[in-house]
Amino acid sequence: MSHVRSIDELGVERVRELLDLATHMAEINSRPVPKVPALRGRTVVSLFLEDSTRTRLSFETAAKRLSAETMNFSVSTSSVNKGESLRDTIETITDMGVDAFVVRHKSAGIPWQIAQWTTASIINAGDGAHQHPTQALLDCYTIREAFGCTDLVGLTAAIVGDIRHSRVARSNVQAFTMLGARVLLVAPTTLLPDDHRHWPVETSTSLDDVLDSVDVLYMLRLQSERMSQGLIPHLAEYATRFGLTHARVGRLASGARIMHPGPMNRGVEMHVDPSEIAQSLIHRQVANGVSVRMAVLYSALTSGAQSTSILEEVAS
Ligand code: NCD
Repeated sequence: MSHVRSIDELGVERVRELLDLATHMAEINSRPVPKVPALRGRTVVSLFLEDSTRTRLSFETAAKRLSAETMNFSVSTSSVNKGESLRDTIETITDMGVDAFVVRHKSAGIPWQIAQWTTASIINAGDGAHQHPTQALLDCYTIREAFGCTDLVGLTAAIVGDIRHSRVARSNVQAFTMLGARVLLVAPTTLLPDDHRHWPVETSTSLDDVLDSVDVLYMLRLQSERMSQGLIPHLAEYATRFGLTHARVGRLASGARIMHPGPMNRGVEMHVDPSEIAQSLIHRQVANGVSVRMAVLYSALTSGAQSTSILEEVAS
């Protein structure tokens, strides 16, 4: 058993291992019956205390493709609504015999707190504005696939928009730089984190200035639900300065690719339809999310004790 809680905690070797393992999982996903018995008898609980579509469904799909049992915890119909504490909830579910919790919560640090209360593996599916390691892994996997590389050495990635409130940006800065990429943060200064000077990045306040020099343009959602003060003067002004338009797509260097973790704010940071632009990797990110989360669950629940040969078996 091990945890997957942040990119820095994983470290570069484990990040590389997980990306390589995801390649095996992608092969399974390409089969007519994309299912193996690798995690038969294991139980994975989804504990999402914050909204999610793709992360939740892709973890669930990943667990099922590895033949794990899945339990779904829905806050709106649980005893959390009767005032049960998170600790009591975790301890109660642990007593039922579970192997992993996939956790999303609005507070930074929750995955580390929960690990004190259970012997199960903790997989962080997003904690506040802190970390979202599986998003970063699937993004690195998608970049490796698109550029045909193993590490990201020689690539420049610009992460654009609401970096201050973004756990995706925090995890991606760690993962991209760990694999050798140069990272630019592009945002109004009010949407940069206070401590960005300590990050291994360069910054710019102008999207137009960086367009022709990036390999990966990574757009972020403006996260109004995490914004407590008026950090931008006007949404329309933000959309004009930092939104991706057809004209801006046209100014990207040839070979540059566009990414977004979803959900998108159409008309704010995205004025183009990703389905209609050849440079978009957004659908690949979603598809690769399943393979990467299979790798994460398999690695966390077997701790490398089983060889990947078990992945060759076909589920009955
Ligand atoms: C992100 C998240 O929830 O952190 N989405 C995701 O997991 N695909 C990004 C966001 O909410 O903007």
